[in-house]
Amino acid sequence: MTYDVGALRAEIPALQSGVAHFDGPGGTQTPARVAAAIADALTGPLSIRGRLTPGEVNAENLVQGFRRAVADLVGGDPSGVVFGRSATQLTYDVARTLAKDWSPGDEVVVSRLDHDANIRPWIQAAERAGARVRWADFDPQTGELPPSAVGDLLTDRTRLVAVTAASNLLGTVPDVAGIARLVHRHPGALLHVDGVHYAAHAFVDQPGLGADLFVCSPYKFLGPHHGVLTASPELLERLRPDKLLPSADTVPERFELGTLPYESLAGTIAAIDVLAGLAGLAGDGPGGRRDRLRTAFAAIERHEGALRERLEAGLAGLPGVTQRSRATERTPTLLLTFDGRTSADASVFLAARGVHAPAGSFYAVEASRHLGLGDTGGLRVGLSPYNDENDVDRLLEGLEAFLRS
Ligand SMILES: Cc1ncc(COP(=O)(O)O)c(C=O)c1O
Repeated sequence: MTYDVGALRAEIPALQSGVAHFDGPGGTQTPARVAAAIADALTGPLSIRGRLTPGEVNAENLVQGFRRAVADLVGGDPSGVVFGRSATQLTYDVARTLAKDWSPGDEVVVSRLDHDANIRPWIQAAERAGARVRWADFDPQTGELPPSAVGDLLTDRTRLVAVTAASNLLGTVPDVAGIARLVHRHPGALLHVDGVHYAAHAFVDQPGLGADLFVCSPYKFLGPHHGVLTASPELLERLRPDKLLPSADTVPERFELGTLPYESLAGTIAAIDVLAGLAGLAGDGPGGRRDRLRTAFAAIERHEGALRERLEAGLAGLPGVTQRSRATERTPTLLLTFDGRTSADASVFLAARGVHAPAGSFYAVEASRHLGLGDTGGLRVGLSPYNDENDVDRLLEGLEAFLRS
């Protein structure tokens, strides 16, 4: 299996500037093919989706192609793919919809490991319904969130469990399938999984994870800025979101408010095709796109894993750096703090050397506080499929210089 990082880098115009990007967890740099697909969609004939004119047919094909591409990415049904402006918006919408059926005394479980986008919408929806919120805590020493931390909170009144598939602050990958098995012992409970950070690094198997609802955001995996929610069409059929009277009541259209941004859908199809192509197989090679994505993500994991080892070996030799990412299963995203120096200073120092690694708590404010880092967080170093050994070496040299400065 080949993984040609040079070929991928050559496809990404922003990397030609020479900057070493460790800011992928905030949003990846975009391949030219993705930008071209967006431009082609906009400059071809394009109308509201329909079946009569070329513009209508182009829009319809983009909608259907988008749903097939996302279903291939997560292992779901194309009819269960809901477009949204962001994961945050989709989670707010689905929380409001589900909460219509919650009563006082019902319970919702959220985790302190999560980005606020998978906490606050549930808390606010629970408050309006009079439901009780229960918190699952991770171990601040290890960063682990074991299934029992969630399982111990479940009761027959649990209506919803919200948990991340990977922490965007620490990289921790909880055992979501194990959590799902516990949740589904309670027939009234649904599991909502935040896959925004996870889907950038791992082959997603939504049915295997046992996620009833799953959100991810293509701008974290080489695509344009929007979000996607996926669920079984049967579950979506049972839900009644607020919608306009004349708008389609079919699934998934019922959940997609207003006209879709067809050009963004085109960009996401292209991003998923770029990912599938990373396996080193030809576009129409053996197996369908889902099979190629499985192979590609295995290659991405090996590539990012090798870079992570190089990075961690280098960090171990830098006195005064504390690495906070310690879970056994985690993405190649490291949170660092520095003795006597702020992570914001480190970020500014590195940026001046063309090494981009941001500092903060990245909206995972509950996690940051639970780690004892307040709202300040740390320096987040995130590896993406386009990083190479040279990037890692420049980061390590930059950190060494920062510590000497
Ligand atoms: C783990 C995680 N969840 C949710 C979000 C929010 O995603 P969006 O910007 O699509 O609302 C982010 C964004 O950084 C994230 O990293």
